[in-house]
Amino acid sequence: MSRSAHPAGPRHADVLPEGHYAAPPADLNRLDAHIWSRTVTRNADGAVEVGGIDVRDLAAEFGTPAYVLDEADFRARCRAWRAAFGPDADVFYAGKAFLSRAVVRWLHEEGLNLDVCSGAELAVALDAGMPAERIAMHGNNKSNAEIDRAVAAGVGRIVLDSFQEIVRVAAAAERHGRRQPVQIRVTVGVEAHTHEFIATAHEDQKFGLALAGGQAAEAVRRVLKLESLELIGIHSHIGSQIFDMAGFEVAARRVVSLLAAIRDEHGVQLPEIDLGGGLGIAYTADDDPAEPYQIAKSLGEIVSRECEAARLDPPRLSVEPGRAIVGPTAFTLYEVGTVKPLEGLRTYVSVDGGMSDNIRTALYDAEYTVALASRRSDAEPMLSRVVGKHCESGDIVVKDAFLPADLAPGDLLAVPATGAYCRSMASNYNHVPRPPVVVVADGKPRVIVRRETEEDLLRLDVG
Ligand code: LLP
Repeated sequence: MSRSAHPAGPRHADVLPEGHYAAPPADLNRLDAHIWSRTVTRNADGAVEVGGIDVRDLAAEFGTPAYVLDEADFRARCRAWRAAFGPDADVFYAGKAFLSRAVVRWLHEEGLNLDVCSGAELAVALDAGMPAERIAMHGNNKSNAEIDRAVAAGVGRIVLDSFQEIVRVAAAAERHGRRQPVQIRVTVGVEAHTHEFIATAHEDQKFGLALAGGQAAEAVRRVLKLESLELIGIHSHIGSQIFDMAGFEVAARRVVSLLAAIRDEHGVQLPEIDLGGGLGIAYTADDDPAEPYQIAKSLGEIVSRECEAARLDPPRLSVEPGRAIVGPTAFTLYEVGTVKPLEGLRTYVSVDGGMSDNIRTALYDAEYTVALASRRSDAEPMLSRVVGKHCESGDIVVKDAFLPADLAPGDLLAVPATGAYCRSMASNYNHVPRPPVVVVADGKPRVIVRRETEEDLLRLDVG
């Protein structure tokens, strides 16, 4: 690698640290359809547009940074999941990925259910009109107030996560004179990640009750004794950003064995199993996620096969995709502030957001791609790192990116696949107000979550 001084610019393309970086893409202007939301294209001016709206108009009207969400794409994904799983299964959208009143209305209209994992997520769901019986309440440490509220609202299921919680939920149900439907979250001994699943160290985490060691079976015994609880099924969630179905296969096999053991011990067959979420999406061109119908087919086959072997009637299946529905529907629009070539290394491109609107790169070493969105460019590729405006060197949005060498302050960049776990995990680090979520649909933009203001932040500061 050359470290000798040279003029900044196009030459950056040929100073890649040896063997480390992929070659630049053949066409920097190309928008890979499986990473971007469905209605994204480049228009005749060369600018990116979504839902028929030019990003330059979005930036002018709503400012940057902004999350731009494609409603048609969100609804299409909901429909694809619904259709793939059919009437004998339920699709619960995992609200932790991104939740707002508009999202709840779309889910309701598209026939999806909703998984929430805090009192405030429950409040959004109820406020936006999701029928309580279509809500599942999760969480490994639900407070008594959260449990009470969920029971009082009449949520369709509470997913029990500990022995203490069994007692707390039963007491709340008694107080409200309800028989509360519950599932027990079990730890099946599989922890799945992209491309691989690991069957070690899996019980060494905070969620659920372990199958191995008999805690799950003991939880079943305790729940079945309580009049105010109705045990409707077993729940398993094995991880996130999973492409390999092998982990689900092991999980389904172990959950079905528990159903068979429950039948043998108690003479009851539980009617439902939930295999959780975790299905992966494409963040980069290397990711190749399955379509919902393939996932549904594969999970359906696994469950039927295992049930047949255990001589059980197939239970009703539910799944909880979050990222796979909302992730690809949004991109983050930033404005370039500074362009700083580091001789022999790469060019640092600073944008007007960063780790406060996307913590995933810093937290998980997540990979993203980025495109120049306000215009086309035929300049040479320049090895870049897209960084934010925060006072921290780990404030990286896209670690390795190729951008055109004529990139300049004022250009707009778009980072795709930021619909999941970006706004929902956003922070106010450095007192940076959190960006808005702008929805585009039918050629019109509208704000569904407004930009935070300095006044919002000052209002919290009551000292
Ligand atoms: N169901 C349960 C019980 C979960 O714990 C989760 C995610 C989901 C469903 C939805 O998983 P998804 O389909 O969205 O992968 N902040 C991390 C992801 C944490 C996921 C936690 N649980 C990230 O940004 O990658």
